[in-house]
Amino acid sequence: KILILDFGSQVTQLIARRVREAHVYSEVHPCDVTDAWIRDYAKDGRLKGVILSGSHASVYEETTDKAPQAVFELGVPVLGICYGMQAMAHQLGGKVEGGHKREFGTADVRAHGHTQLFNGIQDYATPEGHGMLKVWMSHGDKVTELPPGFKLMASTPSCPIAGMADEARGFYAVQFHPEVTHTLQGRAILERFVLDICKTQPDWVMDGHIDEAVAAIKHQVGDEEVILGLSGGVDSSVAAALIHRAIGDQLTCVFVDHGLLRLNEGDMVMEMFAGKLHAKVVRVDASELFLRELAGVNDPEQKRKIIGRLFVDVFKAEAEKLKAARPGSKGATFLAQGTIYPDVIESGGAKSKKAVTIKSHHNVGGLPEQLGLKLLEPLRDLFKDEVRELGVALGLPHDMVYRHPFPGPGLGVRILGEVKKEYADLLRRADAIFIEELRNFNDAETGKTWYDLTSQAFTVFLPVKSVGVMGDGRTYDYVVALRAVQTSDFMTADWAELPYALLKKVSSRIINEVRGINRVTYDVSSKPPATIEWE
Ligand code: XMP
Repeated sequence: KILILDFGSQVTQLIARRVREAHVYSEVHPCDVTDAWIRDYAKDGRLKGVILSGSHASVYEETTDKAPQAVFELGVPVLGICYGMQAMAHQLGGKVEGGHKREFGTADVRAHGHTQLFNGIQDYATPEGHGMLKVWMSHGDKVTELPPGFKLMASTPSCPIAGMADEARGFYAVQFHPEVTHTLQGRAILERFVLDICKTQPDWVMDGHIDEAVAAIKHQVGDEEVILGLSGGVDSSVAAALIHRAIGDQLTCVFVDHGLLRLNEGDMVMEMFAGKLHAKVVRVDASELFLRELAGVNDPEQKRKIIGRLFVDVFKAEAEKLKAARPGSKGATFLAQGTIYPDVIESGGAKSKKAVTIKSHHNVGGLPEQLGLKLLEPLRDLFKDEVRELGVALGLPHDMVYRHPFPGPGLGVRILGEVKKEYADLLRRADAIFIEELRNFNDAETGKTWYDLTSQAFTVFLPVKSVGVMGDGRTYDYVVALRAVQTSDFMTADWAELPYALLKKVSSRIINEVRGINRVTYDVSSKPPATIEWE
């Protein structure tokens, strides 16, 4: 495995992803772990290399973090990236100086000599035959003197030491960011480091992972029982399928229908998990409770809080009911959650004090303490695409595993203002038509469906009425907005340029088939400044 020490760069996760994409297992840990921790981590011989990440430090806020010195004494290759290169230079006897200005953006780097890291990797050659790389750089400080034993590996006119290597010791460092796609050969460079220089085996594949994960779950759970909140979303579904594979009937899934689900969602979840997988699933119809408590509430944050609180209440009551139904049994002692690796990193759960917290994830925290249960999170180490691969390998249908994300509060945040059953029923039907047409409509150029070409698409219910004309009569009905976005991380997003023919079909079907809606609009706002959801 590969250890990535995180100095707090926003793109550290990308390093881990690139390494995983080379089918090598990697873990991110904060840069301030101790020497003793590092030695212990490397003890079993599985650690094949270390990558030191960049830092988020800006001109205004410089970090002086160091890598644990033990990293350089393990006898495994080390790659420093950006700040990681500066830390390496500084700690091994070179010199780092503050730059007068921050360099930010793409650059052409000359790759000197034939180090193993760059050998044969280039974007183009100069007329003199020098290999050149197109890269993305972002730094203020720079290395001005090589540490003893190092030779120059790369340079640009403004950054004469843009890469350095001590090949005898397996130390390499680059000032640019190979993990971002703007560095065209970045993937090749990271693969070269991980596979050839660290000599890892590209054996991180999902089929193998299932056996390992199943064994780990069996070991952790023993003969105790597990309860899991199944939402129908990708993460909880894959977690449920995996845990069910490991412990069968020791798992009970609780599926809370809050009345704010998509059309037929509840039936689909039951059919898949209870029907096909033969898992124990309790379906709780709590829609009346949710609608009652939401009556008269307009504020989006208040709606979210009510839905969250009720969800916990219902789930708790259900857990207690299950226990009471079997007198003498301890009931479930574990709560399983579909927490995935980005959730762990984002909520600072990887104990990284460095990475700036972007948002606290709704999955992490709260519920287990209240229920007095231990946590079981079998997807904690996986990225979303790996979770999907795992889902397919576990036999879940492709459409379920490659579904767009759906927020926990469901249609509750897609009905603007007060939530009413009448609105939810109209919205469900309109939304189902939109999604069906997205799945039916292929893009001529790529051959993919527009469902696959968008990251998230849904319909929003606007509680305003507009005038229309249908047949001979005047209508005075509700309005919906269609929303479809493209994004890689959901932090920023562009509205999707759906074909007019698709929009036309969706609009005409909704207006003709859903009595009560007579106008369809398309949302052309990007994030920022808008958000993806309307509430
Ligand atoms: P926004 O609207 O903030 O959404 O641009 C970004 C992503 O987060 C999802 N989202 C939520 N997911 N509970 C969730 O589980 C929530 O309260 C929530 N709010 C937004 C949203 O669907 C999008 O994918």
